Amino acid sequence: TRTQVAIVGAGPAGLLLAHLLHRSGIESVVVDNRTYEQIAGTVRAGILEADSVRLLVDSGVSGRVLTDGYRHDGVVLRFDGVNHRIDFQELVGASVWLYPQTEVFIDLAGRRGVDGGDVRYGVADTAVEISGDRPTVTCTDSDGRAGRIEADLLVGADGSRSICRHAFPPGAREEWFREYPFAWFGFLTEAPRSHPELIYTRSEHGFALISQRTPTVQRMYFQCKPTERLADWDDDRIWAEMRRRVNGNGFVLREGPISAKSVLPFRSFVTAPMRYDRLLLAGDAAHTVPPTGAKGLNLALADAAVLAEVIVDYYAEGDADVLDRYTERVKERVWRAQHFCYWLTTMLHAVAGASPFDIERQRGELALITGSRYGAAYFAEAYTGWRQSRSV
Ligand code: DHB
Repeated sequence: TRTQVAIVGAGPAGLLLAHLLHRSGIESVVVDNRTYEQIAGTVRAGILEADSVRLLVDSGVSGRVLTDGYRHDGVVLRFDGVNHRIDFQELVGASVWLYPQTEVFIDLAGRRGVDGGDVRYGVADTAVEISGDRPTVTCTDSDGRAGRIEADLLVGADGSRSICRHAFPPGAREEWFREYPFAWFGFLTEAPRSHPELIYTRSEHGFALISQRTPTVQRMYFQCKPTERLADWDDDRIWAEMRRRVNGNGFVLREGPISAKSVLPFRSFVTAPMRYDRLLLAGDAAHTVPPTGAKGLNLALADAAVLAEVIVDYYAEGDADVLDRYTERVKERVWRAQHFCYWLTTMLHAVAGASPFDIERQRGELALITGSRYGAAYFAEAYTGWRQSRSV
Protein backbone atom coordinates (compact mmCIF):
# COMPACT_ATOMS: atom_id res chain seq x y z
CA THR A 1 0.00 0.00 0.00
CA ARG A 2 1.14 3.52 -0.80
CA THR A 3 -0.23 6.34 1.32
CA GLN A 4 0.75 9.83 2.41
CA VAL A 5 0.88 9.33 6.18
CA ALA A 6 1.33 5.98 7.92
CA ILE A 7 0.15 6.09 11.53
CA VAL A 8 1.05 3.45 14.11
CA GLY A 9 -1.55 3.40 16.89
CA ALA A 10 -5.34 3.71 16.67
CA GLY A 11 -5.78 5.46 20.00
CA PRO A 12 -7.10 9.03 20.28
CA ALA A 13 -3.93 10.67 18.90
CA GLY A 14 -3.64 8.40 15.86
CA LEU A 15 -7.32 8.38 14.92
CA LEU A 16 -7.87 12.10 15.46
CA LEU A 17 -4.81 12.83 13.32
CA ALA A 18 -6.13 10.56 10.56
CA HIS A 19 -9.51 12.32 10.75
CA LEU A 20 -8.06 15.85 10.63
CA LEU A 21 -5.74 14.94 7.74
CA HIS A 22 -8.68 13.47 5.83
CA ARG A 23 -10.52 16.77 6.25
CA SER A 24 -7.56 18.48 4.58
CA GLY A 25 -7.46 15.97 1.72
CA ILE A 26 -4.47 14.02 3.03
CA GLU A 27 -4.78 10.25 3.12
CA SER A 28 -3.44 7.93 5.79
CA VAL A 29 -3.34 4.31 6.91
CA VAL A 30 -3.57 3.50 10.62
CA VAL A 31 -2.43 0.19 12.14
CA ASP A 32 -2.79 -1.09 15.70
CA ASN A 33 -1.86 -4.43 17.21
CA ARG A 34 -4.95 -4.35 19.42
CA THR A 35 -8.37 -5.36 18.12
CA TYR A 36 -11.24 -2.85 18.02
CA GLU A 37 -12.86 -4.71 20.92
CA GLN A 38 -9.69 -4.59 23.01
CA ILE A 39 -9.32 -0.83 22.58
CA ALA A 40 -13.02 -0.14 23.16
CA GLY A 41 -13.07 -2.45 26.17
CA THR A 42 -10.10 -1.09 28.10
CA VAL A 43 -11.01 1.45 30.79
CA ARG A 44 -8.86 4.55 30.38
CA ALA A 45 -9.14 8.26 31.16
CA GLY A 46 -12.40 10.10 31.81
CA ILE A 47 -12.00 13.87 31.68
CA LEU A 48 -11.93 16.14 28.61
CA GLU A 49 -10.88 19.78 28.72
CA ALA A 50 -13.17 22.29 27.03
CA ASP A 51 -10.73 22.66 24.12
CA SER A 52 -10.71 18.89 23.60
CA VAL A 53 -14.52 18.88 23.50
CA ARG A 54 -14.51 21.76 20.99
CA LEU A 55 -11.98 19.92 18.84
CA LEU A 56 -14.09 16.74 18.69
CA VAL A 57 -17.32 18.60 18.01
CA ASP A 58 -16.08 21.31 15.63
CA SER A 59 -13.97 18.98 13.50
CA GLY A 60 -17.02 16.79 12.94
CA VAL A 61 -15.91 13.70 14.89
CA SER A 62 -19.12 13.56 16.90
CA GLY A 63 -21.40 15.69 19.02
CA ARG A 64 -22.05 12.77 21.33
CA VAL A 65 -19.80 14.21 24.03
CA LEU A 66 -22.33 17.03 24.42
CA THR A 67 -25.35 14.74 24.68
CA ASP A 68 -23.89 11.68 26.43
CA GLY A 69 -21.09 13.34 28.40
CA TYR A 70 -21.48 15.22 31.67
CA ARG A 71 -20.33 18.82 32.09
CA HIS A 72 -18.53 19.38 35.37
CA ASP A 73 -18.20 22.96 36.58
CA GLY A 74 -15.90 22.13 39.47
CA VAL A 75 -14.09 19.48 41.48
CA VAL A 76 -13.55 18.84 45.16
CA LEU A 77 -10.17 18.72 46.88
CA ARG A 78 -10.66 16.82 50.15
CA PHE A 79 -8.10 16.80 52.96
CA ASP A 80 -8.24 16.40 56.73
CA GLY A 81 -11.76 15.05 56.17
CA VAL A 82 -13.12 18.30 54.72
CA ASN A 83 -14.34 18.97 51.16
CA HIS A 84 -13.13 22.12 49.41
CA ARG A 85 -14.92 22.79 46.11
CA ILE A 86 -13.03 24.50 43.30
CA ASP A 87 -15.62 26.32 41.18
CA PHE A 88 -14.25 26.35 37.61
CA GLN A 89 -17.04 28.46 36.18
CA GLU A 90 -16.81 31.17 38.80
CA LEU A 91 -13.00 31.26 38.82
CA VAL A 92 -12.06 30.92 35.15
CA GLY A 93 -15.35 30.63 33.26
CA ALA A 94 -14.64 27.10 32.03
CA SER A 95 -15.80 23.53 32.52
CA VAL A 96 -14.56 20.03 31.83
CA TRP A 97 -16.55 17.07 30.48
CA LEU A 98 -16.73 13.63 31.97
CA TYR A 99 -16.64 11.50 28.83
CA PRO A 100 -14.63 8.28 28.84
CA GLN A 101 -11.71 7.75 26.49
CA THR A 102 -13.41 4.54 25.33
CA GLU A 103 -16.30 6.69 24.01
CA VAL A 104 -13.82 9.09 22.35
CA PHE A 105 -12.32 6.05 20.64
CA ILE A 106 -15.74 4.75 19.51
CA ASP A 107 -16.57 8.21 18.06
CA LEU A 108 -13.23 8.54 16.26
CA ALA A 109 -13.29 4.98 14.91
CA GLY A 110 -16.89 5.43 13.81
CA ARG A 111 -16.09 8.64 11.96
CA ARG A 112 -13.13 6.96 10.20
CA GLY A 113 -15.48 4.18 9.18
CA VAL A 114 -18.07 6.60 7.75
CA ASP A 115 -15.33 8.50 5.88
CA GLY A 116 -13.87 5.29 4.41
CA GLY A 117 -10.63 5.54 6.37
CA ASP A 118 -8.12 2.68 6.26
CA VAL A 119 -7.69 1.55 9.88
CA ARG A 120 -6.26 -1.93 10.46
CA TYR A 121 -6.88 -3.36 13.91
CA GLY A 122 -5.37 -6.53 15.33
CA VAL A 123 -2.20 -6.54 13.24
CA ALA A 124 0.87 -8.44 14.46
CA ASP A 125 4.66 -8.15 14.16
CA THR A 126 4.56 -4.42 13.44
CA ALA A 127 7.95 -3.02 12.41
CA VAL A 128 8.93 0.39 11.07
CA GLU A 129 11.82 1.35 8.83
CA ILE A 130 12.88 4.92 8.15
CA SER A 131 16.30 4.53 6.52
CA GLY A 132 15.08 3.87 2.95
CA ASP A 133 13.57 6.14 0.31
CA ARG A 134 10.27 6.27 2.16
CA PRO A 135 9.26 5.32 5.68
CA THR A 136 7.62 1.90 5.72
CA VAL A 137 5.50 -0.04 8.15
CA THR A 138 5.36 -3.82 7.84
CA CYS A 139 2.94 -5.99 9.77
CA THR A 140 0.84 -9.11 9.54
CA ASP A 141 -2.81 -8.19 9.03
CA SER A 142 -5.51 -9.78 11.17
CA ASP A 143 -6.34 -12.16 8.29
CA GLY A 144 -2.73 -13.41 8.34
CA ARG A 145 -1.56 -11.63 5.21
CA ALA A 146 1.70 -9.72 5.18
CA GLY A 147 1.12 -5.98 4.89
CA ARG A 148 3.55 -3.31 3.77
CA ILE A 149 2.71 0.38 3.90
CA GLU A 150 4.95 2.93 2.21
CA ALA A 151 4.37 6.55 3.13
CA ASP A 152 5.74 10.08 2.85
CA LEU A 153 5.58 10.46 6.63
CA LEU A 154 5.38 8.06 9.55
CA VAL A 155 3.64 8.99 12.80
CA GLY A 156 4.19 7.04 16.01
CA ALA A 157 1.01 7.41 18.05
CA ASP A 158 1.69 4.06 19.63
CA GLY A 159 1.61 4.81 23.32
CA SER A 160 4.16 4.92 26.10
CA ARG A 161 5.86 1.70 24.99
CA SER A 162 6.16 3.06 21.45
CA ILE A 163 8.08 1.05 18.89
CA CYS A 164 8.35 4.14 16.66
CA ARG A 165 10.23 6.07 19.34
CA HIS A 166 12.89 3.37 19.21
CA ALA A 167 13.35 3.89 15.47
CA PHE A 168 15.09 7.22 16.19
CA PRO A 169 18.84 6.77 15.73
CA PRO A 170 20.93 6.99 18.92
CA GLY A 171 21.48 10.59 19.95
CA ALA A 172 18.64 11.96 17.79
CA ARG A 173 16.48 12.87 20.79
CA GLU A 174 16.73 13.59 24.51
CA GLU A 175 14.69 12.03 27.32
CA TRP A 176 13.46 13.47 30.60
CA PHE A 177 12.16 10.96 33.07
CA ARG A 178 10.82 10.76 36.63
CA GLU A 179 9.52 7.79 38.57
CA TYR A 180 7.29 7.82 41.62
CA PRO A 181 7.33 5.39 44.55
CA PHE A 182 3.62 4.59 44.13
CA ALA A 183 0.94 3.63 41.59
CA TRP A 184 -2.87 3.78 41.35
CA PHE A 185 -5.24 0.91 41.84
CA GLY A 186 -8.22 1.62 39.58
CA PHE A 187 -11.62 -0.07 39.46
CA LEU A 188 -15.22 0.31 38.30
CA THR A 189 -18.14 -0.20 40.64
CA GLU A 190 -21.83 -0.66 40.01
CA ALA A 191 -23.18 1.92 42.43
CA PRO A 192 -24.83 5.33 42.40
CA ARG A 193 -22.65 8.45 42.46
CA SER A 194 -21.12 9.21 45.84
CA HIS A 195 -20.98 12.92 45.01
CA PRO A 196 -22.08 15.12 42.08
CA GLU A 197 -18.45 15.97 41.17
CA LEU A 198 -15.02 14.32 41.29
CA ILE A 199 -13.27 14.22 44.66
CA TYR A 200 -9.46 14.21 44.87
CA THR A 201 -8.60 13.14 48.42
CA ARG A 202 -5.42 13.42 50.41
CA SER A 203 -5.43 11.31 53.57
CA GLU A 204 -2.80 10.03 55.94
CA HIS A 205 -3.44 6.58 54.42
CA GLY A 206 -2.75 7.86 50.93
CA PHE A 207 -4.51 9.41 47.93
CA ALA A 208 -7.94 8.40 46.64
CA LEU A 209 -9.98 9.65 43.66
CA ILE A 210 -13.72 9.32 43.29
CA SER A 211 -14.67 9.67 39.64
CA GLN A 212 -17.67 8.56 37.63
CA ARG A 213 -18.81 7.00 34.40
CA THR A 214 -22.63 6.97 34.42
CA PRO A 215 -25.35 7.41 37.04
CA THR A 216 -25.01 3.68 37.83
CA VAL A 217 -21.29 3.00 37.20
CA GLN A 218 -18.51 4.78 39.06
CA ARG A 219 -14.74 4.91 38.54
CA MET A 220 -12.42 5.10 41.52
CA TYR A 221 -8.71 4.93 42.24
CA PHE A 222 -6.52 4.70 45.30
CA GLN A 223 -2.78 5.08 45.74
CA CYS A 224 -0.98 1.75 46.05
CA LYS A 225 2.47 0.23 45.75
CA PRO A 226 3.76 -0.17 42.16
CA THR A 227 4.18 -3.88 42.91
CA GLU A 228 0.59 -4.35 44.15
CA ARG A 229 -1.05 -7.57 42.89
CA LEU A 230 -4.70 -7.50 41.76
CA ALA A 231 -5.29 -10.97 43.19
CA ASP A 232 -4.63 -9.66 46.72
CA TRP A 233 -7.57 -7.24 46.53
CA ASP A 234 -11.09 -8.61 46.80
CA ASP A 235 -14.08 -6.25 46.98
CA ASP A 236 -14.15 -6.16 50.80
CA ARG A 237 -10.52 -5.19 51.07
CA ILE A 238 -10.87 -2.50 48.37
CA TRP A 239 -13.88 -0.90 50.07
CA ALA A 240 -12.21 -1.04 53.48
CA GLU A 241 -9.21 0.82 52.01
CA MET A 242 -11.40 3.39 50.23
CA ARG A 243 -13.49 3.99 53.36
CA ARG A 244 -10.56 4.74 55.58
CA ARG A 245 -9.24 7.26 53.07
CA VAL A 246 -12.42 9.15 52.21
CA ASN A 247 -15.26 8.49 54.65
CA GLY A 248 -15.83 10.83 57.58
CA ASN A 249 -17.56 14.03 58.69
CA GLY A 250 -20.82 12.85 57.17
CA PHE A 251 -19.33 11.72 53.86
CA VAL A 252 -20.11 8.08 53.07
CA LEU A 253 -19.07 6.23 49.90
CA ARG A 254 -21.83 4.47 47.94
CA GLU A 255 -20.49 0.95 47.46
CA GLY A 256 -21.27 -1.83 44.99
CA PRO A 257 -19.79 -4.79 43.13
CA ILE A 258 -16.33 -4.12 41.67
CA SER A 259 -14.95 -4.88 38.19
CA ALA A 260 -12.18 -3.79 35.78
CA LYS A 261 -9.45 -3.73 38.43
CA SER A 262 -6.02 -2.60 37.28
CA VAL A 263 -2.79 -1.13 38.60
CA LEU A 264 -1.80 2.00 36.67
CA PRO A 265 1.84 2.81 36.01
CA PHE A 266 2.96 6.14 37.32
CA ARG A 267 5.66 8.18 35.70
CA SER A 268 6.58 11.40 34.00
CA PHE A 269 8.37 11.21 30.67
CA VAL A 270 9.15 13.56 27.80
CA THR A 271 11.27 13.05 24.71
CA ALA A 272 12.28 15.76 22.24
CA PRO A 273 12.65 16.59 19.47
CA MET A 274 9.50 14.73 18.56
CA ARG A 275 10.59 14.55 14.94
CA TYR A 276 13.45 12.81 13.19
CA ASP A 277 13.56 12.98 9.41
CA ARG A 278 10.06 11.83 8.28
CA LEU A 279 9.11 10.21 11.60
CA LEU A 280 7.00 12.09 14.17
CA LEU A 281 5.73 11.10 17.62
CA ALA A 282 2.38 12.05 19.15
CA GLY A 283 0.62 11.45 22.46
CA ASP A 284 2.05 9.04 25.02
CA ALA A 285 4.76 7.93 22.60
CA ALA A 286 6.32 11.38 23.06
CA HIS A 287 5.30 12.16 26.63
CA THR A 288 3.66 10.35 29.52
CA VAL A 289 2.13 12.05 32.56
CA PRO A 290 1.05 10.53 35.85
CA PRO A 291 -2.77 10.23 35.84
CA THR A 292 -3.38 12.82 38.58
CA GLY A 293 -4.89 15.82 36.80
CA ALA A 294 -6.28 13.93 33.80
CA LYS A 295 -3.98 15.49 31.20
CA GLY A 296 -2.77 12.50 29.15
CA LEU A 297 -5.74 12.15 26.80
CA ASN A 298 -6.04 15.92 26.40
CA LEU A 299 -2.37 16.25 25.49
CA ALA A 300 -2.72 13.47 22.93
CA LEU A 301 -5.65 15.23 21.24
CA ALA A 302 -3.83 18.58 21.30
CA ASP A 303 -0.75 16.97 19.70
CA ALA A 304 -2.88 15.53 16.90
CA ALA A 305 -4.45 18.93 16.18
CA VAL A 306 -1.07 20.66 15.90
CA LEU A 307 0.53 17.82 13.97
CA ALA A 308 -2.29 17.83 11.41
CA GLU A 309 -1.67 21.55 10.77
CA VAL A 310 2.08 21.03 10.47
CA ILE A 311 1.60 18.15 8.00
CA VAL A 312 -0.75 20.30 5.90
CA ASP A 313 1.94 23.03 5.85
CA TYR A 314 4.55 20.42 4.94
CA TYR A 315 2.60 19.42 1.84
CA ALA A 316 1.83 23.04 0.97
CA GLU A 317 5.42 24.19 1.30
CA GLY A 318 7.16 21.00 0.16
CA ASP A 319 9.92 21.48 2.70
CA ALA A 320 10.78 18.87 5.35
CA ASP A 321 12.11 21.54 7.73
CA VAL A 322 8.49 22.59 8.27
CA LEU A 323 8.14 19.44 10.38
CA ASP A 324 10.38 20.95 13.07
CA ARG A 325 7.57 23.37 13.89
CA TYR A 326 5.66 20.51 15.50
CA THR A 327 7.94 20.09 18.54
CA GLU A 328 8.28 23.86 18.81
CA ARG A 329 4.53 24.32 18.92
CA VAL A 330 3.63 21.57 21.38
CA LYS A 331 6.52 21.55 23.84
CA GLU A 332 5.30 24.38 26.07
CA ARG A 333 1.90 22.75 26.56
CA VAL A 334 3.61 19.42 27.27
CA TRP A 335 5.83 20.87 29.98
CA ARG A 336 3.04 22.88 31.59
CA ALA A 337 1.01 19.67 31.82
CA GLN A 338 4.05 17.79 33.10
CA HIS A 339 4.42 20.33 35.86
CA PHE A 340 0.73 20.33 36.73
CA CYS A 341 0.49 16.53 36.97
CA TYR A 342 3.71 16.32 38.97
CA TRP A 343 2.58 19.10 41.28
CA LEU A 344 -0.89 17.70 41.89
CA THR A 345 0.62 14.25 42.44
CA THR A 346 3.11 15.43 45.04
CA MET A 347 0.51 17.60 46.78
CA LEU A 348 -1.99 14.75 47.21
CA HIS A 349 -0.02 11.54 47.70
CA ALA A 350 1.48 10.11 50.88
CA VAL A 351 5.14 9.19 50.58
CA ALA A 352 6.50 6.48 52.85
CA GLY A 353 9.04 8.01 55.21
CA ALA A 354 7.91 11.60 54.64
CA SER A 355 9.19 13.88 57.41
CA PRO A 356 6.72 15.64 59.72
CA PHE A 357 7.87 18.87 58.04
CA ASP A 358 6.98 17.55 54.58
CA ILE A 359 3.55 16.43 55.73
CA GLU A 360 2.68 19.80 57.29
CA ARG A 361 4.09 21.63 54.27
CA GLN A 362 1.80 19.53 52.03
CA ARG A 363 -1.19 20.63 54.15
CA GLY A 364 -0.04 24.23 53.85
CA GLU A 365 0.11 23.88 50.08
CA LEU A 366 -3.45 22.51 49.92
CA ALA A 367 -4.63 25.36 52.13
CA LEU A 368 -2.97 27.83 49.76
CA ILE A 369 -4.96 26.45 46.84
CA THR A 370 -8.32 25.99 48.56
CA GLY A 371 -8.12 29.03 50.82
CA SER A 372 -7.20 31.62 48.23
CA ARG A 373 -9.13 32.85 45.22
CA TYR A 374 -5.86 33.14 43.29
CA GLY A 375 -4.65 29.72 44.40
CA ALA A 376 -7.95 28.14 43.42
CA ALA A 377 -7.94 29.99 40.08
CA TYR A 378 -4.42 28.70 39.36
CA PHE A 379 -5.66 25.16 39.87
CA ALA A 380 -8.90 25.75 37.94
CA GLU A 381 -7.11 27.22 34.92
CA ALA A 382 -4.68 24.33 34.74
CA TYR A 383 -7.33 21.64 35.28
CA THR A 384 -9.74 22.99 32.67
CA GLY A 385 -6.87 23.51 30.20
CA TRP A 386 -4.94 26.55 29.17
CA ARG A 387 -6.89 28.27 26.42
CA GLN A 388 -5.12 28.08 23.06
CA SER A 389 -5.63 31.78 22.42
CA ARG A 390 -4.32 32.97 25.77
CA SER A 391 -0.84 34.40 25.51
CA VAL A 392 1.28 34.40 28.62
C1 DHB B 1 -10.23 10.04 35.87
C2 DHB B 1 -8.87 9.77 35.79
C3 DHB B 1 -7.96 10.71 36.23
O1 DHB B 1 -6.63 10.46 36.16
C4 DHB B 1 -8.38 11.90 36.78
O2 DHB B 1 -7.46 12.79 37.21
C5 DHB B 1 -9.73 12.16 36.84
C6 DHB B 1 -10.65 11.23 36.39
C7 DHB B 1 -11.21 9.03 35.38
O3 DHB B 1 -10.80 7.96 34.89
O4 DHB B 1 -12.41 9.26 35.52
